Amino acid sequence: MKTENDLYGHFFSEELKKVELRISKLFKKEHPDSLYEPCSYIIKSGGKRLRPLLVILCAKAVGGDIKNVYNAAVAVELLHNFTLVHDDIMDNADKRRGRTTLHKKYDLSTAILSGDSLLAFAYVNLLKDTMENDKSVLSSFTKGVVEVCEGQSLDKEFETNDKVTIDDYLIMIKKKTAALLEMCCSIGAQLGGGSVQKQNALAKYGRNMGMAFQLQDDLLDIIAEEAEFGKVIGGDLVEGKKTFLFLNALEKAKGKDKILLKSVIKNKGIKKEEVSKFRELFYKLGVIEDTEKEIIRYTKLALKETKVIESEIDRNMLVWLASSLIKRNK
Ligand code: IPE
Ligand code: IPE
Ligand code: MG
Ligand code: MG
Ligand code: MG
Repeated sequence: MKTENDLYGHFFSEELKKVELRISKLFKKEHPDSLYEPCSYIIKSGGKRLRPLLVILCAKAVGGDIKNVYNAAVAVELLHNFTLVHDDIMDNADKRRGRTTLHKKYDLSTAILSGDSLLAFAYVNLLKDTMENDKSVLSSFTKGVVEVCEGQSLDKEFETNDKVTIDDYLIMIKKKTAALLEMCCSIGAQLGGGSVQKQNALAKYGRNMGMAFQLQDDLLDIIAEEAEFGKVIGGDLVEGKKTFLFLNALEKAKGKDKILLKSVIKNKGIKKEEVSKFRELFYKLGVIEDTEKEIIRYTKLALKETKVIESEIDRNMLVWLASSLIKRNK
């Protein structure tokens, strides 16, 4: 008997093949190479392609024809890659998807400009799937872009702010990450012709999944295997990021541990060699466990929203996707 894993996994990989084919054709005919070779370098470097999948799944879940959303699916991946290129400059990151980050392989100007182009091409592709007067899709997409920038700004601001609370952190990740996943689900549902009720429920599904997703990214940043994760482990601590893990540790720690954590704020980060010491401290304080619980809590909130979908198979696919993300290690 075929398991859900076989069935849904097969559907997802077949759909992603179609997206991948379109991505492989991007920038082939564009000039100058000094701009589009780096754009190809990042977008053709793999990645989970979660955001295109959300657009497709949500269009399908509302009964839409998924053939009409492949350009939009490519658009959200382009947008996502734009945020990654600029994020790696801001986070001083050396590795992404197992490869040298774009600004390190080329240079800063190239990375800034490639990011800009990826964003512009995101719109070019989105417009192919929107009707003449389809303002609502464009406005949801643009709202997503605005929110990511606001969230990224808060993320940077928090590096040097010693009064950040967990609530501040949650607002920040809602903008920098959850807003994009929310937007993917929303435009999928809109392009698929779904009712406002379904659009809203799927948007909420994406938002809560996005909260869980960023919490898990922060968790993986400290406990994943570098070869699998494709990014340098401990990067958040090195950069002095106010992640859920760090803020939770700060709340729970006492005595020497608290002094150590406060020194991270004072020094605006730690040295690479200290990462394992902090990993042990996070385990000792129960921070890893608390983060896992928070990830499950948000995932459950996402799952609740799927009940508006009548088709059992589509509903199960949404449930399966959100639940399998918890098990990811990259
Ligand atoms: C990384 O996103 C940025 C975050 C919001 C955590 P992904 O983990 O989806 O990155 P790729 O596309 O799979 O590389
Ligand atoms: C990413 O947050 C948010 C974006 C808007 C790209 P991170 O800075 O944690 O993402 P990674 O870990 O570098 O992928
Ligand atoms: Mg960042
Ligand atoms: Mg980063
Ligand atoms: Mg991260």
